[in-house]
Amino acid sequence: MPEKQTILVTGGTGFIGSHTCVELIEQGYDVVVLDNLVNSKVESLNRIERITGTRPRFYEVDILDREALERLFAEEPDISCVIHFAGLKAVGESCKKPWEYYHNNIAGSLELFDVMRAHGCKNLIFSSSATVYGDPEFVPITEECPKHTPTNPYGKTKTMLEDILVDLSAADAEWNIVLLRYFNPIGAHPSGLMGEDPNGIPNNLMPYITQVASGKLEELGVFGDDYDTPDGTGVRDYIHVMDLAVGHVKSIEFMAGKHGVNVFNLGTGIGYSVLDVVHAFESANGLTIPYRIKPRRAGDIACCYASAEKAERDMGWKAQYGIEEMCADSWRWQSMNPDGYGD
Ligand code: NAD
Ligand code: UFG
Repeated sequence: MPEKQTILVTGGTGFIGSHTCVELIEQGYDVVVLDNLVNSKVESLNRIERITGTRPRFYEVDILDREALERLFAEEPDISCVIHFAGLKAVGESCKKPWEYYHNNIAGSLELFDVMRAHGCKNLIFSSSATVYGDPEFVPITEECPKHTPTNPYGKTKTMLEDILVDLSAADAEWNIVLLRYFNPIGAHPSGLMGEDPNGIPNNLMPYITQVASGKLEELGVFGDDYDTPDGTGVRDYIHVMDLAVGHVKSIEFMAGKHGVNVFNLGTGIGYSVLDVVHAFESANGLTIPYRIKPRRAGDIACCYASAEKAERDMGWKAQYGIEEMCADSWRWQSMNPDGYGD
């Protein structure tokens, strides 16, 4: 048996990071988590332990804190690859606090990349987003689809960090980088023990629906029914968070012996409208979701879904979960944990 590889997961107590930790541990990796807990709770580590029987080593560190990063890499000399989830991600907040978003996401990532290379670790998986395609030139979106400037500072940090990583790699051939462009992650661990725990009133569709289902919120506002889509509501490519988690493990396997930058979309390849999701949620869970059509939300696009062929061809990854399971697992998590991970 080869020795267990040690993986540093930044943002590992967050939504996608915590689910990825479960998958990494179950596939035999040694996992180190870094997070400053600005948008997550330590309780997620307890849940990872309950599911896998293993608690990842945890460092409460801010990626802006270079000395703390140095100490972490000194204490964990076996880190061979970094999965970089840490970052602020609220689209609306980024328009109100652009400096904070550029500082946290760009400056923080630059510190991380510098400390990585200083310690000879140049294997990186970066959490990017379908937002880098802006209003896409075509659907399904392939990785060759031209990038367009996102409409908000959060999205711009993703596109800028991708560009920075491409330049780093062009100047130093030892970098081995995978850019993963996630489409719309939803769902939760099928045990109901882990899921998304948003602060305050959710901005995203699925957490809003689950809070309407639980009675915390009165009704769903559907943002626009006059888009050029089959039922007029926005179409997105929803992907189960456990499928995303597997996508990261597949990326590590893919990276073996490679150099340079490789880009993959992580989506299912299927677009569902807002009303499709509402109806799928209702039928998966035997519930009714009251909704009202509202005006379009600023910055939204009509339609966005992936071509997921490259990930299947090059790294053998394909989404396994359908929309019904995404809806059932989201609801199981919400109903078992009405207050998320608590205070
Ligand atoms: P999340 O907020 O649950 O997780 C991000 C984690 O990063 C949080 O635990 C937060 O505390 C931590 N963090 C933020 N700034 C930090 C800092 N300076 N130092 C240390 N830790 C810090 O978000 P998520 O949904 O799990 O997203 C993970 C990554 O995937 C993010 O980079 C996000 O931009 C990206 N992404 C998310 C989506 C989505 O819809 N959820 C879509 C595309 C891309
Ligand atoms: N929507 C509603 N009502 C709501 C919330 C959302 O109708 O209360 C609609 C939106 O208008 C959109 C769809 O549901 O048509 C999905 O909206 P989300 O806010 O859940 O997701 P977005 O596609 O707007 O954005 C998400 C992430 C971004 C990421 C992008 C692409 O929030 O960070 O996917 O990956 F960049």
